[in-house]
Amino acid sequence: MRLNRPYESAFSKEAKKLVDSGASIISLGLGEPNFQTPKIIQEMTIKAMEEGYTRYCDPMGLKELRELIASKLKTENQLNISYNNILITTGAKQAFLLALQSLLKPGDEVINFSPSFLSFIPAIEIVESTTLIHEIDLTRKNFRINWEEVRSVVSQKTKLIILNSPHNPTGMVLNKFDIEQIKALYQEFPNLHILSDEVYEYFVFDGHVQHSIASSLPDTDRLFIINSFSKSFAMTGWRLGYIVVPEGYRNTCGEILKHSNMNVTTFIQKGACAAFLEGRSCSYISDFHSDLQTNADLASSHFSDNRISFTKPQGGFFGFLDISESGLTSDDYAVKLLKAKHVAVNPGFQMGRNWDDYIRISFSGSPESIHLGINKLVEFHLEVCDA
Ligand SMILES: Cc1ncc(COP(=O)(O)O)c(C=O)c1O
Repeated sequence: MRLNRPYESAFSKEAKKLVDSGASIISLGLGEPNFQTPKIIQEMTIKAMEEGYTRYCDPMGLKELRELIASKLKTENQLNISYNNILITTGAKQAFLLALQSLLKPGDEVINFSPSFLSFIPAIEIVESTTLIHEIDLTRKNFRINWEEVRSVVSQKTKLIILNSPHNPTGMVLNKFDIEQIKALYQEFPNLHILSDEVYEYFVFDGHVQHSIASSLPDTDRLFIINSFSKSFAMTGWRLGYIVVPEGYRNTCGEILKHSNMNVTTFIQKGACAAFLEGRSCSYISDFHSDLQTNADLASSHFSDNRISFTKPQGGFFGFLDISESGLTSDDYAVKLLKAKHVAVNPGFQMGRNWDDYIRISFSGSPESIHLGINKLVEFHLEVCDA
């Protein structure tokens, strides 16, 4: 293990201090839905506990839940896969770790796009310290993938390419051209595996489309898909996710689950089956989707009215704002903003070494709080840039 960043930012320390003092903070920080878990899931979970779903279950997960996920994957993602290749995990985070544990060997190389979800790199460092990680920066203009750069580093040693669409923190959504590039690499490099993190799949804006990687590849022998109930069904605290594993990795992943946490809480798995009664047409998803779209529209027009350059997210919970004009590091910017306006954002340096001139803004709060938070953020930004 080589965890390179057990570092607490000045922003986190300041935020803790403020919270402890009882101050009220407008959060544009955490990526958590501003909604309660749908009632039907809560009720089914309580019922499951009362009915005795309180014992160990298959380490791979309850068959009933895995079958429901298999049918969701078929109808929504055009992926025909047996429930046997779906494993239930403690959130998408454990799913990611599981894929890495089953895959990485000493000397392997991994391609990750930067900025990125802040657990990707630490998870690789935890699992296999010798991994060479190629961090490829997304373009600064509109956060696209530079495929020529990918081609300049990919080789027979590349074991894994990590994809995340809609993307945390930029809101980028892979387009058809990206999918074609991924398919070409997959065909050319027989050692290359793909890990697709699709936790924000239901939240795409302005007519953009979330394409199914699974259905674009000639086979799924080297494709891992991770997903979660956290964002799709407002269940961040329940810790429930899943992974679709290729046949060749099924047993290893099952063994790792069995000897680590055995199984995800049995009654939670049973209760989560209720999520599939209405699936993506449930009112939580449409209400939250509409809030996210409203919030992204609002932020984008407020930034543009004030001539602050901002790439509007195409999906997900976040926007990534260029703060270079302020001359501050992202940590300083976040601390000063917090002290001056009681608005919390995440410093960009936490999401990639070259992104210290960006901050991440979460749009997952209520439209009222986002409206207030963005107004204050714009006020602060203009003050520091004019100073
Ligand atoms: C891209 C991405 N993957 C995975 C996760 C973790 O999800 P979970 O709560 O299911 O572990 C997050 C959470 O913020 C995320 O942004």
